[in-house]
Order: sequence, then C-alpha cells, then structure tokens
Amino acid sequence: MTAITIRRPDDLHLHLRDGQAMRSILPFTAARFARALIMPNLRPAVTTTEQALAYRKRILEALPQGMTLEPLMTLYLTDRTDPAEVDRAKASGCIVGLKLYPAGATTHSDAGVTDIRKVDAALSRMEEKDLVLQVHGEVTDPAVDVFEREARFIDEVLAKLAARFPRLRIVFEHITTRAAAQFVQDSRPGIAATLTPQHLLMNRNALFAGGIRPHHFCLPVLKSQADREALLAVVASGDPRFFLGTDSAPHARGAKEAACGCAGIFSAHGAIELYAEAFEAAGTLQTLEAFASEHGADFYRLPRNDGRITLVKEPWEVPRSYPFGAEEIVPLRAGETIGWRLADVADGGSRPEGVSR
Ligand code: DOR
Ligand code: ZN
Repeated sequence: MTAITIRRPDDLHLHLRDGQAMRSILPFTAARFARALIMPNLRPAVTTTEQALAYRKRILEALPQGMTLEPLMTLYLTDRTDPAEVDRAKASGCIVGLKLYPAGATTHSDAGVTDIRKVDAALSRMEEKDLVLQVHGEVTDPAVDVFEREARFIDEVLAKLAARFPRLRIVFEHITTRAAAQFVQDSRPGIAATLTPQHLLMNRNALFAGGIRPHHFCLPVLKSQADREALLAVVASGDPRFFLGTDSAPHARGAKEAACGCAGIFSAHGAIELYAEAFEAAGTLQTLEAFASEHGADFYRLPRNDGRITLVKEPWEVPRSYPFGAEEIVPLRAGETIGWRLADVADGGSRPEGVSR
C-alpha cells in the first residue's frame, strides 16, 4: 500500500507547554489531529477548573489563523484536590478527566499525589460524575529498578485502585510493557491505555546507540524488545481498549543535552506518520484507523471526527531542529527520515463552537 486515507485522528495525550514555546509547536498537532487531550503539568500545575479554562483559552488564541484544534482538558490531581473541584470540572463541559502523577515520577510531578489514599474522596466523586482518571503508572521509590517501575505500579497501586473504584474509568497512559498490556486486556470494563509512537518504534537499545542519546529519553523509559513486541501485538489485535496518545513532550535542546537531561520526546511534527510507519512495519496498517481515530473517541464518549487525512508512503527528511520559543527543539528522527508523509487533510467541515480562529 502506498497511500492510506483515514478518519481524522485525536491525540489523547499531549504536552503543549505554554506561551511562546506553545505557539511554536501547536501547529504541528493542529495540522494532523482534530482534538488533543492536553496534559496539565505546567508550572504551576493546572489544578483547578478556572486554570484549565484559562489554559484552554490561551491554546485557542495561540492557533494560527485558519487552523483548528479542540483542546480537551484534564486537571492535575493533588493530595489536596477537593471533590467540589471535580464537580466544577464536570460542569465546565471542557474537562474530561483528572491526571494522576505520582509525586516525583516524572517532569513537573513534584505537586503530584504522595499517597493514593489521599485522593480517595476525589476519586470517588470522579466515579460518581464519570470523569476519567488518566494515570502515569510508575512507582517512585528510587530503589526500584527504573525498568520495573511500571510493572510494580500495576501490582502495588493500579490493580487495587481499579478494584476499590469499580466504576471509575481509567486510562493507563503511555504503556510500555507486556505486563501493562496484559493488565489492560485482563481488566474489568472501563480500563484502557494509550500507546506512544516511540514505544512502538524503539526499544531501550535506542538510548545507547553509538553513545548516550538524550533525545530518546522519556518516562516511562523505553523498554525491552519483548515488551515492544507485546505492544505491537495489542495494536495488531485491534482491541478497542488501546488508542493513540503521543506523549509528545518538548524540551529545549539545552534541557535535553545536559548532565541531567529532561525526560520527554518531541514527536508532534510527524506523529501520525510515525505511527503509520510502526503499524506498517508490524504488518497492521489496517488497524491504524481504529487505533488513531475511533477507539479513543469511543472511550471518551466523543463523536468520531468527520474529517479525513491522507498519508502517502514517501520518505521525508526531518529537520535537525525546529524553533521552540526563543530556543530550539530536536524532534524525533532529527536529520533522518520518516517513511510516511501527510499528504492531505479534509476537516469535514465540523468546527465545534470556539475551536477555530
Ligand atoms: O517523558 C516524559 N515527559 N514523560 C512524562 O511523563 C512527562 C513528559 C514531560 O512533561 O516532559
Ligand atoms: Zn505525558
């Protein structure tokens, strides 16, 4: 196959940052996706409905003329999240969930949850109001091997959480292991997972190919080839509980190429193209559309997008860097090629109120 046309996709896990940095990168996502679920790990974190609505407005104002993107918002859950905040989030109509960052697990997670029991009241209200819990699933104990932190989180936190709140809908974000894929496949209804392009395309050898490769460092960290194969098997299975969330997470070059470099891989410049490459290599291009454009929308009970995008199998060279506010960013595959190119976008004419400029 040399071209593929699919329903317009959604990116259900995206870091946009804010200000000039956001302005530089937002067009990449808007060019490809109709909607994106915007992560709340800004500084300060987006913990209230008021902050989320203000952030959403800044995103819409940052869209270049003629581009559209519907930002779906999530609040940053903290030890002090008041159940009344959950009510306000639900009433806003723009907030689809709350994000659990175990404190210390990743970038800007210091305001996160220190003990899952501290958020019982908020989780109970979310269950009642049917707001989705998005989970960064890693334990934070520095004594636990970094490659084991996701699997340990399932046993120590997630399985119990899913049982204690049996109607709470949960997205296990950016899963990286066979254990996580298996957990979702074996779990009760209402549990799903997102998968990133990097975890489908690379294993942990990519961190050390010819030397240390900071632009391949993200959290959860890349895993073994056996884990990667398990992720490819679930996307090939067409299981509706698995869907697209890039976790595109930009950091300026200097913050990555450092003695203690930040976690995060920037993939928004070629996100759907990278997934197409991964799916094609796994012989499962036929499941790409449902993964990218149907399963996530269905899980979040959103209408499927009307538009279509066309990808062609035509390699293009990725620039060595892109502007990122006053700095620059090194994208995934910088100076190398991506095997598929975005050839056409038809937005289907559906522009929900307030999402275009
Ligand atoms: O690699 C990551 N980068 N993982 C995360 O969980 C956060 C993200 C970021 O915000 O940079
Ligand atoms: Zn993320």
